[in-house]
Parts: sequence; structure tokens; C-alpha cells
Amino acid sequence: MTKKPTNKTNRPLFSSGPCAKFPNWQINKIETSILGRSHRAKKPKDFINYSVELTSDLLEIPKDYKVAIVPASDTGAFEMAMWNFLGHIPVDVFAWESFGKGWVTDIIKQLGLEDANVIEADYGILPDLQSANSDSDIVFTLNGTTSGVRVPNLNWIKDSRKGITLCDATSGLFAQKVDWSKLDVTTFSWQKVLGGEAQHGMIILSPKAIDRLNEYSPSWPLPKIFRIKKSGIIDQSIFSGSTINTPSLLCVADYVAALEWAREIGGLNKLIEIADNNLQIIKDWVSETDWIKFLAKEESTISNTSVCLEFSSKSPNGDEIDTSKLSKTIQNMLEEEEVAFDIGAYRDAPPGLRIWTGATIEPSDISILLEWINWAYFVATEKN
Ligand SMILES: Cc1ncc(COP(=O)(O)O)c(C=O)c1O
Repeated sequence: MTKKPTNKTNRPLFSSGPCAKFPNWQINKIETSILGRSHRAKKPKDFINYSVELTSDLLEIPKDYKVAIVPASDTGAFEMAMWNFLGHIPVDVFAWESFGKGWVTDIIKQLGLEDANVIEADYGILPDLQSANSDSDIVFTLNGTTSGVRVPNLNWIKDSRKGITLCDATSGLFAQKVDWSKLDVTTFSWQKVLGGEAQHGMIILSPKAIDRLNEYSPSWPLPKIFRIKKSGIIDQSIFSGSTINTPSLLCVADYVAALEWAREIGGLNKLIEIADNNLQIIKDWVSETDWIKFLAKEESTISNTSVCLEFSSKSPNGDEIDTSKLSKTIQNMLEEEEVAFDIGAYRDAPPGLRIWTGATIEPSDISILLEWINWAYFVATEKN
């Protein structure tokens, strides 16, 4: 019989989006002097630009890349990317979990691209990235949030590529280093690794992507919300604080608070260190626990933000287990105890647990959470 833990988590927030705010976040510490003003007025616009500059500095984005805030979260940013850039040359689309597979659907069914080569893999593994054709564009996800499988490096993208890369990086940036020379169009949303608010996305363009934008216009119509060109070339104003439509200045201010926190604690290296350390705590536990394992089959691909775990289908006393039911029971028990919210696997993913370990999550909370999962597992399987 496992004893019920006595320590509760400091914050029971382990959702993979919206993610926990940074430790000691307080709503009354957010900059409010820009609220209730026009986002086109000088001070609010400067503030928007400040958020973009902080982003570029923290993420170590090369100076000749362009960065903008765009509507509708990462989905909006990535749709904008696909609708503006694809269709010029063939495209290789890599997908291995729900979001990547969603981009495949849009490329095939909505954009109707006939020259799309889809390379898919099941939950837990990566497709063959080495098969990328450097004469084609490449679409991929940096960190598969719903399978906990990340791309371990970008070496498989050729420096001499003819095509451009489109990378949905929303749950990897600020937790994983990227080689920017391999990324041409990159997107993310604020709600992920820094625990910002949803509904605002960012798009980052390399010089190669800017050339593509200036040289190529797709044959399909582009709604205003996706338009980043004016008179046939890139609209520079969108990349210098004149957003396409009105952003929430409260969300901008909240994002700036998170960026300043990140800078104060030591910047990108520190953010990565926290996420890696959180993952290591879980790795140590998994290695000594025989009834749970990572959904990711390859060690180098285990995500350090969205950690997906599967239960063994046999209980310690050899009984068959309904792992879907068990996962639900454990989630409910931990939610009732107020030690963990939102740790269920994504709805399309294999049953199990998903624990967010990005930089806003304190390692002590991960350790405490694991004690509670141990306890809940034994209580739940004894009842079975
Ligand atoms: C890899 C990936 N892509 C896209 C999205 C969609 O992001 P949003 O809801 O911010 O548009 C998510 C959200 O979890 C994600 O994890």
C-alpha cells in the first residue's frame, strides 16, 4: 500500500496550453499604461515593438530575420505561413501527431496542393526526416505537443536547399535551441512555453522566406487576416509594430512581463535548463517505475515540454488494465486533490498522461506530482 503524499504541489498547473504563468506572476504587476489606447498611437506601438525586440533577443533570432505579431494564435500564424508561401514548388510534409496531421489536411484538402509528398509516422515515433528533398519546401513541427516527440536537431535540413522550411515551433521555442539558419518561416503562440495568453501568434521570416514572398504570389485568394504583402512585396509595416488588426494590449503587456521574467532569470539557456531538468526528474522516475513509459520510443526525441506517458497494460499483480480508464481515474483523483490539473493525453492521442515541463513549471512541483501519480496508480489498480 503506497502512503498518500502529504505535500501538495505549489501550483497544480501542468496543462500543455494555455500553460502555467511564470512563478510569482501577478496581474497587478502588468504594465497598464497602454490599455484603453489605440494600438496605432506612438506609445502602444513602441510597446508592441518592444515585445517583438525582446522576443528576437531572447530567441537569438538573426538580425536579418523579420518578426511580427499576427492574429489567431499559432494556428493563425501557421495557416498564414502555408497560405502565403506554399504552392511555388513541391512540398514535403512531415507529420507524426495531431497538429502536424492537421497541417497535412489543410495542404491536401484546403490548398489542394497536388505536389505534396506526405511523410507520416504514428504517435511515439518520428517520420524519416532524412528523406527530405532539398529541391522541395519542407513543412514540419518542431515539438509534437500531442505525442511528446520532438525533432532532436535540424541537421537533416540542407544548407544548400532550394526550397524553404515552414516550422510550427509553438511548443519548442523558449525550451529548445534552434539553428535559425535551417528555419525560413517559423511560428509560435504566446500561450505555450512562456505561459502568455492565447490568440496572438508570431511569425519569423528568414531572408530566403522574404525573397519567396517578394517573388511569388499564390494563385488562391488571401483573406485580409493572412495578408503580409502590399503592392506585390512584403509589407514592412507589419514587421515594425503595425499589426494587421487590433491586438489585445493586455495580452501584449502580459507577454512582455513573461519575456522580462525570462531575461531576468538568465535568458534562453536558463529556460532550456529548467525544461531539461524537469524532464530529467521524470526520466529518473520512469526508469525506476515499471508500469509507465514514455510514448516517445527514442530517447533523443523525448520532448522537454510536453511529456507524454503511457501506462503498461498489465498491473503489478499481472491483471489486464484498461489504460484509458486508468488514466482518467488518475487524472480525476489528482484534480480532486488539487495537485494536478489538465494532465490527460490529448483527445486524439493514445491514452495516458501528458505533463507540461516548460520553464514556467517549478521542478519541485514535478517531483511532488510524481509522488501523487505513484499513489493514485496504486489506489486505482488495487480497486480494479
Ligand atoms: C504543435 C502545435 N501546433 C499548433 C497548436 C495550436 O496552437 P493555438 O491553439 O495557439 O493556435 C498547438 C497547440 O497546442 C500545438 O501544440
